[in-house]
Amino acid sequence: MRRQIVAGNWKMNTTPAQGVELIKNVAAQKKQAKESVELITGVPYTHICCVSEIAKENGIAIAAQNCADKASGAFTGEISAEMLASLGVQYVILGHSERREYYGETSKTLNDKIKLVYDNNMAPIFCIGEKLEEREAEKHFDVCRAQIEEVVFNLTAAQFEKLIVAYEPVWAIGTGKTASAEQAEEIHEFIRKVLAEKFGAAAEKTPILYGGSCKPSNAEEIFSKANVDGGLIGGAALVAEDFVGIAKAF
Ligand code: PGA
Repeated sequence: MRRQIVAGNWKMNTTPAQGVELIKNVAAQKKQAKESVELITGVPYTHICCVSEIAKENGIAIAAQNCADKASGAFTGEISAEMLASLGVQYVILGHSERREYYGETSKTLNDKIKLVYDNNMAPIFCIGEKLEEREAEKHFDVCRAQIEEVVFNLTAAQFEKLIVAYEPVWAIGTGKTASAEQAEEIHEFIRKVLAEKFGAAAEKTPILYGGSCKPSNAEEIFSKANVDGGLIGGAALVAEDFVGIAKAF
């Protein structure tokens, strides 16, 4: 039995005070979901200190949405993995398509970041996924394979055991378009097969989350698939009922 995970990605939304309200509301409703479902909340850096106590008391893990590719030093405006870990952050979302697209993140940068995440005893939620034109050209398998090979294949076996993968087709993020449960299962199965080529049986245990317009109304069908172990949730994570509603889909 693999871990079942629902991770929120608040992106650049909410003020810290609104974030505190949101996490309180999630905490208050969390009991509606099975206890075995792990909840993770990816908050803006500025919110970590205000939400972490409430999150901890209520069994919700905190993720950062990014970290610097350098350990420390003269890098104005950057936030290091060590700083995040010192605040009790357990996960870092890496390789989100918005970071790849708008901030030029490449596999090279991601290799540096993922190493720092592990060096500071956190775990990455590593995002992969194809763009619309790549899906239409039927290149989605190749794109996902390359994104995995270029970063995940450089991990040690011990690091790999802590990895969470999120498959997020770029055409489904924030668009209201969701991959069908069959499309999700097809590519999740493929992703697990690629992971197994390098890491063998350990890939059976890797949580692979689906992301892209996941909501309470479609989560149950998507999560029912054999290789879908939960979701990475953007828009719906900003409404406590919806976020918990998705967790209830298990
Ligand atoms: P969405 O975002 O749920 O708003 O589509 C998902 C994500 O980008 O993680």
